[in-house]
This record gives sequence, structure tokens and C-alpha cells, in this order.
Amino acid sequence: MIGRLNHVAIAVPDLDAAVALYRDALGADVGAPQDEPDHGVTVVFITLPNTKVELLYPLGETSPIAGFLEKNPSGGIHHICYEVQDILAARDRLTAQGARVLGDGTPRIGAHGKPVLFLHPKDFNGTLIELEEV
Ligand code: CO
Repeated sequence: MIGRLNHVAIAVPDLDAAVALYRDALGADVGAPQDEPDHGVTVVFITLPNTKVELLYPLGETSPIAGFLEKNPSGGIHHICYEVQDILAARDRLTAQGARVLGDGTPRIGAHGKPVLFLHPKDFNGTLIELEEV
């Protein structure tokens, strides 16, 4: 059912330092920071030949990644995103298998303008999984 790895999202405590690391030390194709107020994050997209990395930095008082950075002060992998062709079919298959979808199960529009859902990390080996319809 799942297709390509769309992105790996990394929460970072210092966005400028993370950008410099990926651009200068790793030599990656690093985009400009984009504020995503609906998601409570500032995102920097890093384009790799086979997938993307997204640096996430808290935006606003109620950012969903603030708690994650409190627990992981030097940053860390926040979630990974797999592509699916039909997000509602994917949701129904997963819930039938006993997996928990976060929120009310209704896909939201994600940072790429496409419908996304998140799956409970306790059901997936401690990894928060995002599904994105492509
Ligand atoms: Co994501």
C-alpha cells in the first residue's frame, strides 16, 4: 500500500545552525524557511535525489513540536512520511488492522498542500508516521 518515502522530518532547536549544517557541511540543496502558521512550524525543505528532509522549527506559542524539543533538546527525527495513492482507503485499512489515527481521522491539508494523516507512534515501533496522498 505505501509507496515512496516522501520525507523525513527533523525537529531542530536552532534553525540557522541546522540550515548551515545541511548546506555547508553536507552540501545539500536547502530551500528558504517557510512559515506554516496552520501547523505551528517553520519548515526548511532539503531536496535530496531520492527524497526530502524537512527541518521543523517551532512557530508560535502552541507549536506541536515544542514538547518534542523539550524532551529532545538537541533535536531529533520527529516523523517520517510515506506516500499513498488513496488516503481514505489507507486510513480504513489501517483502522481495520487496529492502528490508531491521530485526531478525528479526517485528513488535513499538510505542508505540501496535499491531504495527510498521522498514525500513532505506539502502533508503529515508536515512530510517528505521516501518510500523504500523492
Ligand atoms: Co511531514
